[in-house]
Amino acid sequence: METPTMKPDTVLILDFGSQYTHLITRRIRSLNVFSLVLSGTSSLKQISSHNPRVVILSGGPHSVHAPDAPSFPEGFVEWAEGNGVHVLGICYGLQLIVQRLGGVVVEGESKEYGKMEIEVKGGESEIFGKGRVGEKQVVWMSHGDEALKLPDGFEVVAQSAQGAVAALENRGRRIYGLQYHPEVTHSPKGMETLKHFLFDVCGVSADWKMEDLMEEEIKVINNTVAADEHVICALSGGVDSTVAATLVHKAIGDRLHCIFVDNGLLRYKEQERVMDTFERDLHLPVTCVDASEQFLSQLKGVVDPETKRKIIGKEFINIFDQFAHELEKKHGKKPAFLVQGTLYPDVIESCPPPGTDRTHSHTIKSHHNVGGLPKDMKLKLIEPLKLLFKDEVRELGRILNVPVGFLKRHPFPGPGLAVRVLGDVTQGNALEVDEIFIQSIRDAGLYDSIWQAFAVFLPVRSVGVQGDKRTHSHVVALRAVTSQDGMTADWFNFEHKFLDDVSRKICNSVQGVNRVVQDITSKPPSTIEWE
Ligand code: XMP
Repeated sequence: METPTMKPDTVLILDFGSQYTHLITRRIRSLNVFSLVLSGTSSLKQISSHNPRVVILSGGPHSVHAPDAPSFPEGFVEWAEGNGVHVLGICYGLQLIVQRLGGVVVEGESKEYGKMEIEVKGGESEIFGKGRVGEKQVVWMSHGDEALKLPDGFEVVAQSAQGAVAALENRGRRIYGLQYHPEVTHSPKGMETLKHFLFDVCGVSADWKMEDLMEEEIKVINNTVAADEHVICALSGGVDSTVAATLVHKAIGDRLHCIFVDNGLLRYKEQERVMDTFERDLHLPVTCVDASEQFLSQLKGVVDPETKRKIIGKEFINIFDQFAHELEKKHGKKPAFLVQGTLYPDVIESCPPPGTDRTHSHTIKSHHNVGGLPKDMKLKLIEPLKLLFKDEVRELGRILNVPVGFLKRHPFPGPGLAVRVLGDVTQGNALEVDEIFIQSIRDAGLYDSIWQAFAVFLPVRSVGVQGDKRTHSHVVALRAVTSQDGMTADWFNFEHKFLDDVSRKICNSVQGVNRVVQDITSKPPSTIEWE
């Protein structure tokens, strides 16, 4: 599928592997300026095809002296100067500018990591607004190498307390560099500096709006899908597939055909709840297939987590295949496209850290929710969210009138309860336990502060005493984590009274459970799910 045509005011970020690259993009987008990430070693043709107003060279873990140190392509600086493009190097990006333009970068005598004070020099610096952004400020440094000698025409405009170059510029050539990370909150004046740089120095206008992106995407979908073609989408009940389907539906109407499969492993009353949203709130054409029996009978007695995932994936494919055949019979034409809720972090190509065997990391989400779709279906992909971060998808969903409560739902894994009931999933009352836990979280007003919460049903029995009788019943574990993106997570610290109430409610109302424990491990070393 083609990418929407970009507005002229694009800020392109060439990624050299910094852990903060996504953050710079998000910070810039939060200023209503469109920003995209490309691999730092992209060709000049790729870079110029985006017609950027500004190019930011990101930080990265490399040393410019390493034999395989990534760098921008030949001719990049000449192209930028010739086209009035402003260039800003951050950290490694600054060092690249210095080295490639004839200056000298050396290994610093004392490395600078963490908070540092810098002093802005003189009243002429453009990047600090001639002193407007402050003369002394605390910034976040993270570098071993430093610029010793600047290329001709460049000027030091800020120095660290240890005397290292903290910022440089060549106003005539529109090339700037910051040795520190302005995008992190530990650099309190960083956003003000970035804002001043983009709007006042580079003249970028803040005209990027989610509404524009939505209109662009609708045009692209309409140009991609011919008037007699059909599109299918598997709805998981999650935010991404729902927003993607709603957008495609807005573009092509009922030539979109969605399927929602109840595999018997979903949350409490999930089928009713999500079908209500799909049909009543979003008017999506959805076929709901209740395949609980089919899935559960296949899973009976299965305890290995990977085998569970495979069984679920295979069953789903069978159902999806059948759905596509039925559509073909009905419309006399095979569906040609598949909608996927792939997000921007899944498609960004970046420079991998040194020491890894990878050349470029480029992960496209296979339909891992459902275990992969049959290759012989030959469906072309429509991925209308592929330029967006999760919070932007929520914003788009809001514009498309997806109910806010739905947009804030916690993520739920494709294999559902199969990976939350350890051992044989057909045993026990996991759903009830989970519902009590989640409802208590909602009642306590904590739902939106938690990334993901759920109960894990353990195949372990322990001895208890309930109503004067000894019991030998199941143990359940409560899991609640905070996270930015699910890659790392920390356990959520509930108040004592909350835990006390939940534990009491679970043991009093769920048969076969006599013990409740809380999972107090972060990720890493644990994962969020238990299987
Ligand atoms: P872990 O457990 O690996 O999970 O820390 C990170 C995030 O991914 C979700 N998850 C899955 N989602 N299919 C999915 O669609 C899966 O097999 C799966 N396993 C984990 C998990 O819920 C968390 O949000």
